Amino acid sequence: MEAEAMIADTEGEKKSSEESDLMRIQRLESQYLMQTYARSPVMFVRGKGATLYDDRGRAYLDFITGIGVNVLGYDHPRVRRILKDAARLMHTSNLYYHSFQGPLAERLVKASGMSRVFFCNTGAESVEGALKLARGWQTARGREGKTEFVALVNSFHGRTMGALSVTAQEKYRKPFEPLIPGVSFIDPNNSSDSFAEARAAITERTAAVIIETIQGESGVRPVSNAFLRAVREECDRHDALLILDEVQCGLGRTGKVFAFENTEARPDILCVAKPLGLGVPLGAFIVNERAADGLRPGDHGTTFGGGPLACSLSLEFLEMLEDGDLLARINELGDYFKRLLTKLQKRHRDIVAEVRGLGLMVGLELKFSGKGAAAKMLERGFLLNCTHDTVLRFLPPYIVRKSEIRTFVEALEAVLVEEAQKER
Ligand SMILES: Cc1ncc(COP(=O)(O)O)c(C=O)c1O
Repeated sequence: MEAEAMIADTEGEKKSSEESDLMRIQRLESQYLMQTYARSPVMFVRGKGATLYDDRGRAYLDFITGIGVNVLGYDHPRVRRILKDAARLMHTSNLYYHSFQGPLAERLVKASGMSRVFFCNTGAESVEGALKLARGWQTARGREGKTEFVALVNSFHGRTMGALSVTAQEKYRKPFEPLIPGVSFIDPNNSSDSFAEARAAITERTAAVIIETIQGESGVRPVSNAFLRAVREECDRHDALLILDEVQCGLGRTGKVFAFENTEARPDILCVAKPLGLGVPLGAFIVNERAADGLRPGDHGTTFGGGPLACSLSLEFLEMLEDGDLLARINELGDYFKRLLTKLQKRHRDIVAEVRGLGLMVGLELKFSGKGAAAKMLERGFLLNCTHDTVLRFLPPYIVRKSEIRTFVEALEAVLVEEAQKER
């Protein structure tokens, strides 16, 4: 009996010493974390350029960049230089001045052709601020009943209660209803009817319309210039504000600083986040002169938003984006990537339905679920994400090399052919 217990103990010890770092973390997370995420079984410990390394030293080519955040890849020399000095002043709160917020706001204002900026921390928080500003703007004009919002079908604007209220996808909103009342959703891809739909939905009760210039989460779907123009006209006719959510598609992703520059539409409020702080949380909403008095002193605030660490990184990023050759590079690489994907589509019309996107925001619509392909790519050392079930979404870093794009597309073709055989 004793001998048996001893053996069991020894085996138990042996087991725990064999437990990998990943297994230990998985065990702790499954016990102590809220179970809100379905993580892939990989643990990253460092990165260099467009490549991430896991705890076993395995390399992964990163075409998702922490969902559109790590646009300069990993361990960029300019980021490293800033982080070396950052310990001196990590946080001040918004009670005091520091030297980075003003210059960063100036850069964003000049780049967007707008007027003023409010800094926050995340995409959802920038959307919350935009919605609140729209309500405040209407109230300041004595339009008490003008409180409603219009958004698009398949939209995604974040997980907080306001952002969720303008997020169309049922799976995100349903368990948390009732959300903000008076939100209607219109379809931008309903051909000529969508203009009529927009005209019917935007009324004297509408405070603002919110649109992702390119819908990200719902499968990389650009909203057409004609639709945006029609919405802009309706907003002007009804004294409603137009909010463009460029949390995912803004800040260089499409080959322009802002995605709306690819269209004729101009927003009253522009939401940005994701890459803004190069991996340190930073979001912002930028407003034009018309909307700038929507929030008055004391109306809005945040403890962390626009801190010195995030803003110093962001200033460096915007300098590279506007003054360097980064935008030209994004355009060239994006064209190359899409050319290779289009050739892949031509070779496999039974597999690929469509190649979509602008710059380095690219989606591949498959004729079957993309979940298996995303998992297979991970096994082979390539990171991407499957969204809206059938769309493979690629958000590679702006520093990716042509040779890396080629390697990625070659692996993707092999995986898709394998997956298609399973489908048959
Ligand atoms: C268009 C858009 N808006 C808002 C958000 C929410 O941003 P965050 O996750 O930083 O709150 C996202 C996140 O994916 C997004 O894609």
